[in-house]
Amino acid sequence: MMQSTRTGKLDQASAGHGGRAVLLVARSAFAAAPHREMARIATRAGRLPGVDRAEFCFIEQGTPSLLERLLELRREGLAEITLVPLMLPIEPGFRNWLVRCLRRWQGEVPGRWPRLSIASGPAESPALETLLESVLTDERVEIIPEPGRPLAVEGSIVPAQKRRVLVCAGRACNEAGADAIWGHLRNCQERRKLRVTGDGVMTAKSTCLGPCSLAPVLQVFPEGTYYGGVTEAAIDAIVEEHLLGGRVVEKHAYPPTGRKQRLRDPHADSATPYREKDEIHA
Ligand code: FES
Repeated sequence: MMQSTRTGKLDQASAGHGGRAVLLVARSAFAAAPHREMARIATRAGRLPGVDRAEFCFIEQGTPSLLERLLELRREGLAEITLVPLMLPIEPGFRNWLVRCLRRWQGEVPGRWPRLSIASGPAESPALETLLESVLTDERVEIIPEPGRPLAVEGSIVPAQKRRVLVCAGRACNEAGADAIWGHLRNCQERRKLRVTGDGVMTAKSTCLGPCSLAPVLQVFPEGTYYGGVTEAAIDAIVEEHLLGGRVVEKHAYPPTGRKQRLRDPHADSATPYREKDEIHA
């Protein structure tokens, strides 16, 4: 369930009269506790001067995703959204792919968008030393006890899933937004229970899969089908048709031809835009 942090000015923003939202961007969260932690941080951010609303989102696994939250704020009529990356460290290409994702979504989802901006990360803040000093002097610093005996050896379950989806996390794919694609796939996997549906689907990141010019790339096994120029809409189609239906999605697939291939149409998804309503409330 999405959680909202609202100030007294929110009603005005919700009514479509503008206002500034701050969107805290974290990497991943798998359990309820980190979601609650982000909600608490957003509550504090919502009290800052000049902030009409503060929310959080995740760029990899975890809901709401960045796109979901952006669309939610857009529907509510916020005039401006400032993204605040909260992760450390921030990869050199992070801002580039973030800008590319934002521009792609602006193209894919028609209508008026709020003004978007991206703040610098925590490492760039002049208040970083103050923050570090604060946590170092906090009485909750935890002392780790000396181990009294060897830790127990743990066992593992061997995965039963027969299908594999490898999402390339090589440099070209990362710069093309592979993190957002990965996050969308993992969220779909959770929502559609893909691990235990049909043959079962296991997802993993990989190093470079080869056809870097087709970034972002993923590959579906056991067929070994390559998909290129993957977007959220392409993921939706691959989940529905390939992972659940067993049919290759020709529109996004690149079979091995023995010749160099380029992306056929980088805007191909404009015909099948991101299905906003399906994902926001799934
Ligand atoms: S970096 Fe993804 S295919 Fe090479």
